[in-house]
This record gives sequence, structure tokens and C-alpha cells, in this order.
Amino acid sequence: MAEQTTVTQITEKIDGTKETERQLAFMEKAAGYVQELSEKLGRKPTCCVVTFGCQMNARDSEKLSGILEKVGYELVENEEADFVIYNTCTVRDNANQRVYGRLGYLNGLKKKNPHMKIALCGCMMQEPSVIEKIRKSYRFVDLIFGTHNIYKFAELLTAMFEADGMIVDIWKDTDQIVEDLPVERKYPFKSGINIMFGCNNFCSYCIVPYVRGRERSRNPKDIIREIEKLSEDGVKEIMLLGQNVNSYGKNLEEPITFAKLLREVEKIDGIERIRFMTSHPKDLSDELIQVMKESKKICRHLHLPLQSGSTEILTKMNRRYTKEQYLALAEKIRREIPDMAITTDIIVGFPGETRADVDETIDVINKVQYDNAFTFIYSKRTGTPAAAMEQVPEEEVKENFARVLETVQQTAKKRAALLQGQTLSALVEDVNDQDPELLTGRLSNNMIVHFKGEKELIGQIVPVYLKECHGFYYLGERV
Ligand code: SAH
Ligand code: SF4
Ligand code: F3S
Repeated sequence: MAEQTTVTQITEKIDGTKETERQLAFMEKAAGYVQELSEKLGRKPTCCVVTFGCQMNARDSEKLSGILEKVGYELVENEEADFVIYNTCTVRDNANQRVYGRLGYLNGLKKKNPHMKIALCGCMMQEPSVIEKIRKSYRFVDLIFGTHNIYKFAELLTAMFEADGMIVDIWKDTDQIVEDLPVERKYPFKSGINIMFGCNNFCSYCIVPYVRGRERSRNPKDIIREIEKLSEDGVKEIMLLGQNVNSYGKNLEEPITFAKLLREVEKIDGIERIRFMTSHPKDLSDELIQVMKESKKICRHLHLPLQSGSTEILTKMNRRYTKEQYLALAEKIRREIPDMAITTDIIVGFPGETRADVDETIDVINKVQYDNAFTFIYSKRTGTPAAAMEQVPEEEVKENFARVLETVQQTAKKRAALLQGQTLSALVEDVNDQDPELLTGRLSNNMIVHFKGEKELIGQIVPVYLKECHGFYYLGERV
């Protein structure tokens, strides 16, 4: 079988507007192939997009879904589909292992459905060792592409229909942003919006800068235009996405701060709630605190990854703040905006981390009183500086992890209990999974509340009385 060319080196120069037109033309071409397939099958072909990883990947999946829908596929949740695409993550090794595990299952499905196509994309595909492994051991995959050329999905889809071997197209980096391609949102009432791509921070444990490339900010005009369109379309809550939103705009031709962007977004009619992810503590400005404080729309939730409470470990992590600086920042936020929920990410088991270092982390958790925290066991990522440092024995890591987790759960419970008896607005997101009589809403501070109500309320922001605290969520009543 003929194998298609692999492009691994390119940082292609493209003209954004022309490229959008080119891709729209490929969508028409792909639609022709999907139509042919549809006639062969006697039904509309189905496709399933599976997302691993973070909000950025979730947003990318909405872009993939937009194109798939446009070319004539029916989107389904089930992997027993005519086209399955895995949008992968590689931030920790367990994310990779899950993909390999599920690929075995897909192979079984493909044997039963001769028309089935399988594609892989996302962060994991930016690692050469992964591509090598898939080429060798997962020959049944039809299409592989990376994070930098996702805008070319329509073109690659067309190539996939025309080829009879595996197509691999991976770029090392890009400085391009292609606007205005179709998007299929998961929720009609809320949406993520990329404000920047990539990361320049190179925290020593993290693979993201290697697989997502250098930091690029979108033009504020494009962002505002996209949000205005979303608002016209009924979206009430938006989440501005970037690996470090606090450094947004620094490298634009006309530099602008993240705080200024937020002020502009605030003015958009119809948008009632604004969230953002993620804030790096080293770049969080007083201007931003002021904007958050004055805003009627910015949600009372700040995700402020700590990673470690030990200054020594923070230095080795290349986080560029000390324990004291972090604590001072958290204190300032709590003082200025008392109802702001603060959540965090913590890594346990970074190379060289001692029990005393973990005690420092626990000290920060107790002082900040996080509303919630994601705790991760350090995962060695090939190619990052930390991978070459001396690793901590597994037993020690497990014990420290348990101590950190327990502390986090205690503070989260305490913070949650403070809301008892208040009436707060909740954006109704869904019918409750377990009890169809209940709706699930999200408070401004990101906490979940379940309450009785009709499903017609989905997408609306309603006041809810917080009656009973159940640790991490509330049972409430609509008032
Ligand atoms: N840009 C964001 C984080 C993106 S990755 C930020 O700086 O906050 C999300 C989280 O995954 C990180 O905050 C970190 O806690 C965790 N993480 C990243 N690399 C990791 C690794 N090698 N092992 C364990 N956790 C990791
Ligand atoms: Fe990774 Fe650090 Fe960049 Fe976040 S800021 S994506 S942790 S390198
Ligand atoms: Fe994973 Fe890529 Fe996000 S590695 S966490 S999906 S940026």
C-alpha cells in the first residue's frame, strides 16, 4: 500500500484569509466523498470525536466537529461509527496509555466495519516517538495530524478519502492563526474561545510548550467579533482560553493587556458570564485584580496553579515565583474580592521533592484555603528538563500524595460550607445524570448545585437557594 508523504519540518507561511477560502473549498470536495459513501451505505455516515485532555483540546474538537458536520457526517457519541477521531493529550503518561488501550478496541470495530476510518490528532501526535509506535504497531490508523495544522482538517480529510494508506502530517511549529472555520459547539449556551495558542514558559516538568509551540495571541478584534457572534447565537457564558492568559497580547503588533481585553469583552451585550483559564501567578497584575473586582460579568472563580509550595521546588520547576510571592498574591485577591473562589493545580513527586517540601505545599493549601484543587502525581515527560533529574521513589510519592489530597479535601469542604443558606444565580447546564427530576446548575464560583426544575430552564441563569451542602456540591431550591 502506498504511504503518503510525511511532513515533519514545516513552519509554513500562509495567508490567513486565503487559507480559510482554501479550506472551505476542501470542505466541498470532502462533502462529495461523504455523499458517495452515504449512497453506498444507504444512510448518512456517522462520526465520533473523542476528546482527551484540557479545555483547549475540547475547543479543538468543536472545530473538528464543525467541519465533520459541514461535510455531511452525523455526529454521534458512540465509537461504533464510520469515522472515529481521537483528539489526544500527552500532559501525563496515563493520558497516552488510555489512547493506546482504546486503539485496540477501535481495531476490533474496524474489522467489523470495512468503511470505518480512524484518525488521531492533538498533542500526543507532536511527539516523534508516538508516531513511530503508531506506524509500527497500529497500522490500521488512516490519518494522523498534529496541533499546528488542525485548521487543515478538511484538506486532510479529502486526502484520506483519496489515499489507500496511512496519512501522516505533523508540523513542528507554526506562527499562523486561521480564523473563521466552522465550529459545532457542545453547549448552545456556553462556549470556550481561544485567545492565544502555545506557551513560552517551559516549566521544567511540562511538555505543553513542545507540543503546542510558541505563544501566539489572537488579534483582539477577531476575539471580540467571535464573541459577538456567539452572543447573537444565544451564548451567555464564555471561557477565554490560553495556557497563560495573563501574558495575552504582549507579542501583538499593537500590544494589549489581558485586563484590557476583559474590559472590551465585558461590553458585549448578551454575554452574562465571563470565565478564563489559566492564570500563571507570575503574570497576574494588579490591573487584572481591579478589572475582576469591578466587573459585573467576570465569574467569582480564579484558577491559580500553585504546583508546589516549596520555593526550592518552584525554582527547579522554573515557575518563577516563590512561596511567599504566591501567598501574598492569594492574600491580595482574597482581600480585594472576598467572594472569589480560588482553585489550583498541584504536582506531587517532582524530582528531588522531600517530605519537608510537601509540608510547605500543605502549608500553602491551609493558608490559601482552596475552594478546589487538582492534584497530580508527577509524570516524567521525555524531552523535558525534569525528566533528566533524579526521580522520587514511588512509595514516597504515594504517601505524600495522600497527605496533600486530604488537606485539599478539608479546605474545599470548609469553603463550600460557607455558602450554606445563600441564594445565588446558577446557569442551568443539564438534567441531572442520576435523578431526571433534578437539574444541574453552575454557580459563578464554579460550584455545582442540583435542584428541582423543568428541563426548559437549561441555558438560563436562575436564582437558587443553597439548602444543603454535600461536600463538593449543593442541593438547592429554585426561588
Ligand atoms: N498552563 C497551565 C497548565 C496546563 S497543564 C498552567 O500553567 O497552569 C495542567 C496541569 O497539569 C498543570 O497545571 C500541572 O499541574 C499538570 N502537569 C503538567 N505537566 C505535568 C507532569 N509532567 N506531571 C504531572 N502533572 C503535570
Ligand atoms: Fe506547562 Fe508551565 Fe506552560 Fe502551563 S505555563 S502549559 S505548566 S509550561
Ligand atoms: Fe493535554 Fe495538550 Fe491540553 S497535552 S492538557 S491536551 S494542551
